[in-house]
Amino acid sequence: MKTITVFKGDGIGPEITDAVLSVLKAAHAPLEYDIYNVGEAEYEKNGALIPDAGFDSFERTKVLLKSPITTPIGKGFRSLNVTLRNKYNLYANIRPAKSNTAVHTPFSNVDIITFRENTEDLYVGVEEQIDENTVHAIKIITRTASERIIRDAFEYARQHGRHKVTCVHKANILKLSDGLFLSVFNRIAEEYSDIESDDKIVDNVCMQLVMRPETFDIIVTPNLYGDIISDLTSGLIGGLGLLPSMNVGTDYAMFEAVHGSAPDIAGKHIANPTALLWSACMMLEYLKEDTVAAKIRQAVDKVLQDGHILTPDLGGTAKTEEYTQAIIDNL
Ligand code: NAI
Repeated sequence: MKTITVFKGDGIGPEITDAVLSVLKAAHAPLEYDIYNVGEAEYEKNGALIPDAGFDSFERTKVLLKSPITTPIGKGFRSLNVTLRNKYNLYANIRPAKSNTAVHTPFSNVDIITFRENTEDLYVGVEEQIDENTVHAIKIITRTASERIIRDAFEYARQHGRHKVTCVHKANILKLSDGLFLSVFNRIAEEYSDIESDDKIVDNVCMQLVMRPETFDIIVTPNLYGDIISDLTSGLIGGLGLLPSMNVGTDYAMFEAVHGSAPDIAGKHIANPTALLWSACMMLEYLKEDTVAAKIRQAVDKVLQDGHILTPDLGGTAKTEEYTQAIIDNL
């Protein structure tokens, strides 16, 4: 039995965590759970966003299932997500977006996985007030960080039978920083002659993603573009409620939905737990529990295909609990 750490975050975090844990338990996932409250509410109660015991637990289990945390905008503490990614060197953020039959979007053939570099770029959070009217923000790109995410993207493509890796950048303007990322990509691509590779400028990619998403397979890109583009890919498949992710490094792995704490719907019992549930499936696959992951994925697919019991973001009227129960009934 493997123990994993679970962080219940803010907003819809606790609701979707409860839903996911009930599915994992019903599916007999061979897991034990070390559960902590984290985020704003925890800070107000106990003076720490993540209790020390929560960090200790993650350092023991090395696997974290995390629900979203509210980050103050333009003030206050640094994003806890960015902190976790840096503290545990979770350098690869992998975000798969795949069409499904439940949600009618103009696209039925999206199958894109974004590999986002997760530790540097503008997200190092180094900003400097030059004078009252001027602020500088530092963008950092290193060869080491670029190499490991790009290599991971190609390795994934090879191991999973994917045919193409596209490098997304803005090297026409950021000639040194994105230029370095692109030159590393071109060099590594030569080692993977069995996989098609190309590169595209990020603004062009945004247009092409909404015109011809089927032409993309795996995207590898620095931090900021990866953050934005992967949300765009969630829009292609029916919204943020359907986009899971894993953040992985050499020693630790953290699994979370791409969406935030959705304060606008918190407590209304209408949050869609699928993104966190699919993140949990990625976690099970990472733990080599593929059979349980497949069982859960099939149950979700069945509920989505039936289309009778769906949360409002997918056009239905079901509560989170009803949707969760429908998945459990289909296990
Ligand atoms: P958001 O992702 O929380 O919400 C955007 C829109 O999508 C909202 O209308 C929301 O109701 C909807 N939505 C999101 N998840 C949903 C779900 N599971 N089911 C149904 N509808 C869903 O983005 P927003 O509002 O910009 O951010 C809210 C807070 O979350 C901010 O403090 C932000 O910093 C934080 N955040 C945290 C993340 C994390 O912990 N990994 C990631 C992104 C944002």
